[in-house]
Amino acid sequence: MDSKLIDKLNKRKKEGTLRSLSFFDGMIDFCSNDYLGFSKIETPQNSAQYGSTGSRLISGNSKEAERCEVFLADYFSSDAALIFNSGYDANIGFFSAVPQRGDTILYDEKIHASVRDGIRLSFANSYSFEHNSLIDLEDKINLAKETIYIAIESLYSMDGDLAPIGEIANLAEEYGAYLIVDEAHACGVLGPNGKGIVQDLGLNNKIFARVITFGKAYGAHGAAILGSQELMNFLINFARSFIYTTALPSDSFSRIEQVVLQSNSDTERNKLQQNIKQFRSLINLNSSVSDIYSPIQMIRIGDIERTKNLTELLLKNQFAVKPIYSPTIKIGEEGIRICIHSFNTVEEIRDLCDVINENLLG
Ligand SMILES: Cc1ncc(COP(=O)(O)O)c(C=O)c1O
Repeated sequence: MDSKLIDKLNKRKKEGTLRSLSFFDGMIDFCSNDYLGFSKIETPQNSAQYGSTGSRLISGNSKEAERCEVFLADYFSSDAALIFNSGYDANIGFFSAVPQRGDTILYDEKIHASVRDGIRLSFANSYSFEHNSLIDLEDKINLAKETIYIAIESLYSMDGDLAPIGEIANLAEEYGAYLIVDEAHACGVLGPNGKGIVQDLGLNNKIFARVITFGKAYGAHGAAILGSQELMNFLINFARSFIYTTALPSDSFSRIEQVVLQSNSDTERNKLQQNIKQFRSLINLNSSVSDIYSPIQMIRIGDIERTKNLTELLLKNQFAVKPIYSPTIKIGEEGIRICIHSFNTVEEIRDLCDVINENLLG
């Protein structure tokens, strides 16, 4: 391998931020996005065909795919929906295709890597604004040229905090900008019947596009963009991550429909909220930067070595957790992203908090 690549790996090793694959068999899950335990819901295998055989535009389309999109549009009160193979693909497809050369994309500095990567593939101009700052966003809007697109998450994937969506939607409306809200971590968890924060605030009509994913709280795979039928027609024609890839198999679409329907019940969501409440009542709150309703509770440590030490201690105690370092987050913001689930027990949460509190205070 080229020595430049070896040097990059060695640099990460030296900093203590080298990524590696691991699995957590038998350990207590405090790191997965399976917030409601839905990944374990069994759904029937209806089709004898396990592969979709091609792109949706060639041989990979199915009545299950189309039925699922109609269902999603109705369920999430949207004009239309288009399913992508993953949230990563949805964001890459949208941001590389929709904003045109000369347009301006303004994105929150904490936006997910998939949005950033889509922006990198776009010919539009792009600028970040300070996290959740309406003032900085408005300053940037005033400097923007041509059509303006604003990209935010509703529940941020790393810090687990919420965006001021209502205020941002008002700003977008005032300046005629198009707002895109990634609800990857909010869907299934927050809002009425887990339908997300946009729905909760009744902002569906003020938002140009919503991205929802099925691989997190819904325990499935894939993602959908929600918006107008016109937008879907555009994406089918120009979103390359939709066009040039093999579609999901038909059973994946049936599973999406089933798990989303299952999330209509509040049972697991109520347990999850109870567990988040317990976690926040026990944890030393100075170390948490997250929102009170968020299943993502970021323990900010701000130092690689100390983050590593606490991770190792937690793993030794059978808690499955993952440290988060740069470049996923900024240098100095290192920490451990604790994910709370509906299925975590009172004792598990209590013991986890004990280890964290003792370590951070000691
Ligand atoms: C905010 C956000 N958007 C999109 C994605 C990508 O979704 P998927 O895992 O379905 O590719 C993620 C995944 O971590 C995410 O956190």
